[in-house]
Amino acid sequence: MYRHVVIWRLKDGLENPAAVKAGIRTSLEGLVGTVPGLLRAKVYADAADAAAVMLDALLVSPDALAAYATHPAHVAAAETFVKPFVASRTAFDCAGGSELDELIYERRSIRAFRPEEPPRALVDEVVKAGLLAPTGRNRQSTVVIRLDDPEIREAVRAKNEEIRGAPPAGRVNDPFYAAPVMLLVVADTANDTAVYDGSLALGNMMLKAHELGLAACWIHRAKPEIDSPLGRKILARAGLDGAYEGVGHLALGYAACPLPAPHPYNPARYRAV
Ligand SMILES: Cc1cc2nc3c(=O)[nH]c(=O)nc-3n(C[C@H](O)[C@H](O)[C@H](O)COP(=O)(O)O)c2cc1C
Repeated sequence: MYRHVVIWRLKDGLENPAAVKAGIRTSLEGLVGTVPGLLRAKVYADAADAAAVMLDALLVSPDALAAYATHPAHVAAAETFVKPFVASRTAFDCAGGSELDELIYERRSIRAFRPEEPPRALVDEVVKAGLLAPTGRNRQSTVVIRLDDPEIREAVRAKNEEIRGAPPAGRVNDPFYAAPVMLLVVADTANDTAVYDGSLALGNMMLKAHELGLAACWIHRAKPEIDSPLGRKILARAGLDGAYEGVGHLALGYAACPLPAPHPYNPARYRAV
């Protein structure tokens, strides 16, 4: 991946700067799908400086950037919508630069948490990312339950200890690793994609947590927990009266240990027939 960022200053005295900015945005963002190797192009107007406009583009390689520079569609857009209106241009190009790649490659499960709770707004963002995951036939039956009540949290911990038995070698006894935030993902079993939907939600939540500088770990055993009297109590307290299945928990907080190294990619797991 290759990141290409350009900042322009618009000329003074333009008759309609808003229309100029809209023209730059529409013409350059519209090149995605036309210029090979241009993966993303977003144009932003500076919130504080009315004369500043930025292009943030992602390309597959430096060669793709060179081809973009001379591609006729790009040249036409630049000549018509950009160059006549700008006084100066600064560009910055660098290898990498895909935030999503970094999140996917670097996210790891964390099993040691600091005691302090992350701000509620960050937890809410994590949950939102989970609930915006795709669901089968868009039925959106996944529900995330934040476990706040100390009594419920203790009971969930104890239930998970009971289901798990002795902790795996080298792990602490607490199945939630003393995480200050405990989230529970459940989905309606009337829906045949419930577990897939809930799993995607948890995947989104783990990536979002990593983006926000939070540590997270999927904690399993939600199915037997929800199938137990404790699970029925949690569902009732959450106002859910359907036939819900426990998909997984998310232990969430700030890491109390360094982030482990990324896993190597194993291309042998990619097959074609
Ligand atoms: C379906 C599922 C269940 C998991 N259950 C647990 C769990 O109960 N306890 C735990 O410590 N980690 C659990 N994990 C985390 C995995 O052990 C972890 O994702 C895996 O070792 C890969 O490491 P990474 O997440 O750091 O890439 C679970 C992960 C998944 C996807």
